[in-house]
Order: sequence, then structure tokens, then C-alpha cells
Amino acid sequence: MGNQRSPQLVLSLVFVFFYSTVVLAAPVTYNVVSLGAKADGKTDSTQAFLAAWTKACASVSPATIYVPAGRFYLRQLAFNGPCKNSAIIIRIDGTLVAPSDYNVLGNNWVAFSHVNGVTLSGGILDGQGSGLWACKASGKSCPNGATTLEFSNSNNIVVSGLTSLNSKMFHIVVNGCQNVKMQGVKVSADGNSPNTDGIHVQLSSGVTILNSKIRTGDDCISIGPGTTNLWIENVACGPGHGISIGSLGKDSNEAGVQNVTVKTATFTGTQNGVRIKSWGRPSNGFARNILFQHAVMVNVQNPIVIDQNYCPDNKGCPGQVSGVKISDVTYQDIHGSSATEVAVKFDCSSGNPCSRIRLENVKLTYQNQAAEASCIHAAGTSSGFVQPTSCL
Ligand SMILES: *[C@@H]1O[C@H](CO)[C@@H](O)[C@H](O)[C@H]1NC(C)=O
Repeated sequence: MGNQRSPQLVLSLVFVFFYSTVVLAAPVTYNVVSLGAKADGKTDSTQAFLAAWTKACASVSPATIYVPAGRFYLRQLAFNGPCKNSAIIIRIDGTLVAPSDYNVLGNNWVAFSHVNGVTLSGGILDGQGSGLWACKASGKSCPNGATTLEFSNSNNIVVSGLTSLNSKMFHIVVNGCQNVKMQGVKVSADGNSPNTDGIHVQLSSGVTILNSKIRTGDDCISIGPGTTNLWIENVACGPGHGISIGSLGKDSNEAGVQNVTVKTATFTGTQNGVRIKSWGRPSNGFARNILFQHAVMVNVQNPIVIDQNYCPDNKGCPGQVSGVKISDVTYQDIHGSSATEVAVKFDCSSGNPCSRIRLENVKLTYQNQAAEASCIHAAGTSSGFVQPTSCL
């Protein structure tokens, strides 16, 4: 008998156990309006949003930050971790409005760093970029501008049903992250707005971009060095510069790009369709195991393009060749119309020719006729119906 606990003690221990796990771990919600934010589009609500973040990040149980309908004027929001819990949801019914004055923000506006387990759901982020675009177009000296939404050095991120409007610079950046899922994202900016890439991914692994619509003035999606295991599916792009791997090889020592799938994408009136681009200068970078599958091109200037001689203003690379090695790139079921005669262009590095390029079931027309293909330092195979006739 001596060692046995009484049934009452056992019951109360069980009760305490359930009480502490169920009640103390109950999710908490912080409404930014209760913390002082004003949905009038002009009162600076930055402090209220940061206060909500501080509470959510310090919470030991799952936390939701709720942003109701209305317009919230916000300066830089630095949402920094690490946090005490790995289940923070930011649910936005309203619009976050950036300062239109492009001298107010630094390099980013809404920026998450060192967080784990953050879901951003709904909402409109209005970057108010037109003033900066006009400044850049005028040839005056202007700041680079702020990225609208950035995740850096973070893991297990979900972005769902979010709209990014008129970003000053890139709309969404994923940098140094693992396991990021974006779905139902809308990006919208003028087709002439400079440097307004839709989604930029770099130094990240396990990023998925699904069911998204991107209309902007630069790349719809740009894929930088150190991107691996990227999955892009069901994306509509245009206006914009297409889906682009690169620019790669700007630095002599650079992480490569590996295992990228772009599946079911539509390009409408874009400058490029699917592109791989590298600087014409020495680098140990690479791009390999890339699949472009089921793409529709509607009046696209360069539907399929590899350009290894990128050297803007001929600065820092004349006379040099790209060190970036491009291999195992497959184009499968790509069809539609080209806005220029050359619809397939592989302009690879003389020092590092492209290898194992595969064209399978490609049909691209120019003015209702077969388009043309051009290959320089590119080797590979073609199978199925391929038009323009392959030059590999
Ligand atoms: C390639 O990436 C996908 C995710 O996009 C992943 O499921 C797959 O396992 C990766 N393949 C390799 C060989 O790493």
C-alpha cells in the first residue's frame, strides 16, 4: 500500500495535466484595432501592429493577429523572431497601406526574419509605388525602393490569398528560407513599373508557389542563386518579364539552382516565357534538373530562352564568358504564339556549353507560321512533335 497513490490524487493530477495543456495552450487572438490601430488609411498604425507581433511572438500558445477590414497606414513592419511558439497566424481582412513617400522606407516594408511557423492569410498590401516608378523613369537619382513583403531566414511559412499591389520594388521576396508555401497570391503593378518582380526566391529550399496571378513590370517569378526544390504550378503571368532563373553567375563563388519545376503556366504578352539567364563572367554557379512543363504562350517575345551573355551596359564582363553550367533542362508540352520570329533561343556559354537540353512536344508559331529556333553552344535532344525544328 505504502507506495500507491490514492485514486483522488491520480484524478487531480490528470485534471491538472489536461487543464494546463488544454487551457493554457488555448490559442489567443490579438486584434490590431484593440491595440490602437485606426482603419482610416492615414493614422500611423505601425506601433499597434508591432505590439500585436510582440505579444504573438512571446505567446507560448498558438497566436492569431487579426487585421479587420479597412485601410491601415503603416511604416516599416519588422516582424522579427525567434518566437516562443511556432504557430502564428496573421489574418487580414483589410488593406495595409505603405507610405507613398519613397524616402520613408528602407529596403523592405513588411519583413519577417528568423521566424518559424507563420501563416499570412488574406489581405491587400498596397505598396504605393507609382511615385518611385515615376522618379526612376525621369532619370533622376532615386532610392532603390522597398520590397513589399519579405521572408528571410525563416521556416514553415504559408502565404495564402494575399494581394500585393503596386510595390515600390520587388513584391515578395523569399530569402534563406525552408518550406514556404504560397497559394492564391495576386500580384498587380503596371507593366512598365521598374524592378517590380512578383515573387523572388533565393537561397531557399522547398518553396511552393501555386494558383497565383502575377501582372507586373519585371519578372513574374525570379529564381536566384541557391534555390533548390522549387515547385511552381498553375501560375498566370503577364504583363511581365516571365518566369526567370537568374540572373545567375554575377559572383564568382555562388550557390547553384537545382530541381525546379514550373508546371502549367500561362504567359500573356510577356517579354519572356521561361528563361534562364546568367552573367557573362566567371562563376562556379550552375542550374540543373529544371523542368518546364505544360506552358501556354500568348504573344510572348521570347517564349523559350537561355541567355548566358547577360551584361547590362557592358560593364564588368566584356570579353568574358559565363562560368555557370546549365544542364538537364527539359521543356515539355510548350505551345502557343511568339511575338518575334525566334521563339526558341539557346545562347549558351562558349566556355560551359549547355548540356542535356530536352525539347518534347513543343509547338510555337510566329504570325501563324512555324517560328524559328537558334542554338549557340547548346546540346541536347528533341522528341515528339517539335516546332520550330530543333537546333540542338
Ligand atoms: C525536387 O523538389 C520537389 C519539390 O519541389 C521534391 O518533392 C523532390 O523530392 C525533389 N527531388 C529531389 C531529387 O530532391
